[in-house]
Amino acid sequence: MSKSKVDLSQVDLSTTITGVHFRNPVIAASGTFGYGGEYAGLIDVSQLGGICTKGLTLNPRSGNAGQRLHETPAGLMNSIGLENPGIAVFLEKELPKLRALGPAVIANLSGSTVEEYAGGAVLLNASSIDMIELNISCPNVKAGGMTFGLDPEAAASVVRPVRKAAPDKPLMVKLSPNAPDLAAVARACVDAGADALSLVNTFKAMAIDINTRKPVFDNISAGLSGPAIRPIALRMVWELYDAVKVPIVGMGGISNTKDALEFLMAGAAAIEVGSATFAHPPAMIEIINGIAGYMKNRRFSKPEEISIRGK
Ligand SMILES: Cc1cc2nc3c(=O)[nH]c(=O)nc-3n(C[C@H](O)[C@H](O)[C@H](O)COP(=O)(O)O)c2cc1C
Repeated sequence: MSKSKVDLSQVDLSTTITGVHFRNPVIAASGTFGYGGEYAGLIDVSQLGGICTKGLTLNPRSGNAGQRLHETPAGLMNSIGLENPGIAVFLEKELPKLRALGPAVIANLSGSTVEEYAGGAVLLNASSIDMIELNISCPNVKAGGMTFGLDPEAAASVVRPVRKAAPDKPLMVKLSPNAPDLAAVARACVDAGADALSLVNTFKAMAIDINTRKPVFDNISAGLSGPAIRPIALRMVWELYDAVKVPIVGMGGISNTKDALEFLMAGAAAIEVGSATFAHPPAMIEIINGIAGYMKNRRFSKPEEISIRGK
């Protein structure tokens, strides 16, 4: 596959979110881009605005047993279960290589208990990462994860100690679209110290194998991502823009420039791209080029001007 080039010569796509500089508002979504280096032979990774790591936990995890991915007509279901080597190993073995790639580094922090989250946050606070994305929205683990993201008080009970444990890092909380009252969870996170919010994580879903007559996933349910969820995710970003004052990073099914522009118009300060990279690795590079072209045509001088919202 040929490497796509970005011509940024006449357009300044850079943006600053919670004090972190991004060369453009396109970020690789957690769990879909490894630690960045995995894609270096396919695309020019240095052109991305940011890279969000796979979900990291204080202690190593081997992830879920059984089938982990299942395609649907307009999406992807996953049940990875936060497989990762643990934060200490990440910091020692992966972070130096990830840093050297160039884009802003966001560490996606997960856990089963408040103590595990806070312990992970202490380690990340002492590292060279640029920002923490606190994942209280993973639907694929039995303890912790999404259970914290469904209820305002439960969300605040994690955000508060993590905020305290990582006073030097900007804190972005990643929300679950499965929360019955998303705006209430969002406000609770901001009150507990979140500097920014990202959404959406995957929607709880399931599939059944009609031949084995069993659910496809050992956990029965899995997380749905991809184009199928995009219009719902967009609506959630639009609504949260009115509910909170902090920056919002939007994602959910973004596959091309038009999709990305919709989220930026809805008020997202930046976007993350996940499943689309699996289907088409240069998707993010094409989106960066597409946003640059759109801004050039409209004579916009910064990405913020794409928004059709006003605070
Ligand atoms: C295979 C896979 C693994 C994922 N792992 C994580 C993870 O570790 N932490 C997290 O916060 N989100 C994780 N996600 C969710 C994505 O970061 C993103 O929120 C979601 O897929 C919606 O975006 P998309 O439709 O562009 O994929 C994962 C998604 C997929 C498809």
